[in-house]
Amino acid sequence: MLSIDLHGRVSFVTGAARGIGRACAEALAQAGSAVAVVDLDGDVATATAAQIAASHGVTARAYACDVRDAGAVRATVTTAAADFGALDHLINNAGVQFVAPVADFPDDKYANVRAIDLDSVFYATKAAWPHLCASGRGRIVNVASVHGLVASPFKIAYVASKHGVVGMTKVFAIEGAPHGITANAICPGAVMTDLVRNQAPELVASYGGGISEQEALERAFLDAMPSRRFIEPAEVGALCAFLCSDFALSITGAPISIDGGWAAH
Ligand SMILES: NC(=O)c1ccc[n+]([C@@H]2O[C@H](COP(=O)([O-])OP(=O)(O)OC[C@H]3O[C@@H](n4cnc5c(N)ncnc54)[C@H](O)[C@@H]3O)[C@@H](O)[C@H]2O)c1
Repeated sequence: MLSIDLHGRVSFVTGAARGIGRACAEALAQAGSAVAVVDLDGDVATATAAQIAASHGVTARAYACDVRDAGAVRATVTTAAADFGALDHLINNAGVQFVAPVADFPDDKYANVRAIDLDSVFYATKAAWPHLCASGRGRIVNVASVHGLVASPFKIAYVASKHGVVGMTKVFAIEGAPHGITANAICPGAVMTDLVRNQAPELVASYGGGISEQEALERAFLDAMPSRRFIEPAEVGALCAFLCSDFALSITGAPISIDGGWAAH
C-alpha cells in the first residue's frame, strides 16, 4: 500500500490557523510530521495547533507572526527551528485577496496583497534556507494559485503576486537542488474557504450588482472550472503532504494544478 511517512520531520506552515494552510498542517501531521502553526491570528493558531496535536499525536506549536514583517518572519523561523530542533518543510501558504477593477484598485490594497502573497514567500524561504539545507531533504511548497498561471479580471494584485510565486519557486528549485531541496508551487482553483466567501460582496459590485452573492461566486469561480465543484481544502493538504514525501523526490520547480481543469482552457 502506498503510504506517506513523514515521522521525524518538522513542517513550518504559514497561514495555518484556518483554510488551506490548516488542511496542509493536518495532512502533514497525519503523516507523522511535527508542525509549526504560523498565523497572524495567534488565538486561532493556538486552537488549531492544540486540535492537530490531539488528533494526530504529533507535536504542534502555534506562532503568532505577521508574514509582511521580514524581521518577524526571521525571528519566528529561528524560534521554531530551535523549539523543534530542525525545520524540514516550509509551506508558504498565507495569502489574501482583494477584488476591484484596475482603474479603481487602491494602492494600499495592492501593496498589502503583494506583501503577503509574494514578498513573504521570499522572506520565509530566505530565513528557512539554512535549516532546509541542514535537513538534507528540505521541501518548499508554495501555495500559489491557478492565478499563478492564468488571469481573471479584478484581481491585478493577486494575479501579479501569484505569477511571481511561480517564478520564485523555479529559482528556489534550481538553487536548492544541490542541497537536496525541492520546491514546488501548488496552483489550486476555487477552494471554499473564507478567502473565497469574503470576495462575494466585491464581486457583486464588480459585476455591476443585480445578482446574488452566490451567483457572483459561481460566475467568478465555477464557470471557470469544467468540474463545476468547489475543491475541498483536504485535497490540497494531501497534495502538499505528497510533495513533502520521498515519492516526490524528482518533482521540483513545478507549478502543479489542482483546479478542476481551470488552467486547461
Ligand atoms: N481559497 C481558494 O480558492 C484559493 C485558491 C487558490 C489559492 N489559494 C491560496 O491559498 C492560500 C490560503 O488561502 P485560504 O483560502 O485558505 O484563505 P483563508 O483566508 O481561509 O486563510 C488564510 C490564513 O492566512 C492568514 N493570514 C492572512 N494574512 C496574514 C499575515 N499577514 N501573516 C500571517 N498570516 C496571515 C489568515 O489569518 C488565515 O488564517 C492563499 O495563499 C491563497 O491565495 C486559495
